[in-house]
Amino acid sequence: MPPDIIVTAPLPPFLYDPLKADYRCHDYYAASDKPALLAAHAATIRGLVQGGGTLTPESLLEQLPALEIISVFGVGYDGVPVDYCRRRGLKVTHTPDVLTDDVADVAVALILMTGRGFVRANRFVHAGEWQKRGAELTTKLAGRTVGILGLGRIGKAIAQRVSAMGMVVAYTGRKAQDVPYRFIPNLEALAAAADFLVVACPGGPATKNLVDAAVLAALGKKGTLVNIARGSIVDEPALVTALADGTIKGAGLDVFADEPNIPQPLFAMDNVVLLPHVGSATRETRQAMGDLCKANLDAWFAGRPLPALIPELRVPPS
Ligand code: 8YV
Repeated sequence: MPPDIIVTAPLPPFLYDPLKADYRCHDYYAASDKPALLAAHAATIRGLVQGGGTLTPESLLEQLPALEIISVFGVGYDGVPVDYCRRRGLKVTHTPDVLTDDVADVAVALILMTGRGFVRANRFVHAGEWQKRGAELTTKLAGRTVGILGLGRIGKAIAQRVSAMGMVVAYTGRKAQDVPYRFIPNLEALAAAADFLVVACPGGPATKNLVDAAVLAALGKKGTLVNIARGSIVDEPALVTALADGTIKGAGLDVFADEPNIPQPLFAMDNVVLLPHVGSATRETRQAMGDLCKANLDAWFAGRPLPALIPELRVPPS
């Protein structure tokens, strides 16, 4: 008998079809009667598949007594109650590495789109304005400082890219690393030093609202906020206020606190570039993420080592 798994997020066919071939899949996300689905199958469900941003409440996990593994289709697992999973001995896997380049590309794109005004320039040409007048002048990027919050895999890929553009990199994080970039331990000090403050750290309770009104005030009129990580890391109402009253110069955002809902005032702001969470949204990368998401499950049920167990569960806490 193939193992039963529960699916709590919409999955693309290139992941869902192979899963259906090897597992008995129960589509909790699409089920109109979720309690009925659980009543019928909860006792035998051994795996759970969810998206990076999917919130998995402990109350759902409590109803799955046979659960062994959560396989996240995404690198971020801030929606998974990791401490609970550790206590219960549940495995949690994710899809790191395969999306690093694409997400870093989006950070660079947001720096270019905001800093060089390319979105406004595109609108200008489409609207036939070029026939009437010249384009606006913007700001040279080479020589400007990019402050990176979270120098992990994605943060490092962003640092490499903007270094190649002649930009200066500084970063903050839990500790200084052996990298050729300036470590600034304090986030407000990093924001004060940065022309672009790029959010690239994991989401979750530990980083909630880390970028708050004080950090935005330190970023100041010279500064643009770029977020390719999680909306939860930024105090969104404070960001809207900082943009509206000119505390900061602009923002380039791929992620939001309550996707796909975006604070209404942002729609009308000319100094803001908004993307619909497309960091990893290329065919190649989503396929690779899907393959890794399934490979994690397959390995578990075949008794092989897990390709991408989350770091918190790799060593027992001391
Ligand atoms: C995906 C993401 O959009 O990897 C992540 O953590 O947020 C994105 O790559 C998402 O995980 C798809 O489910």
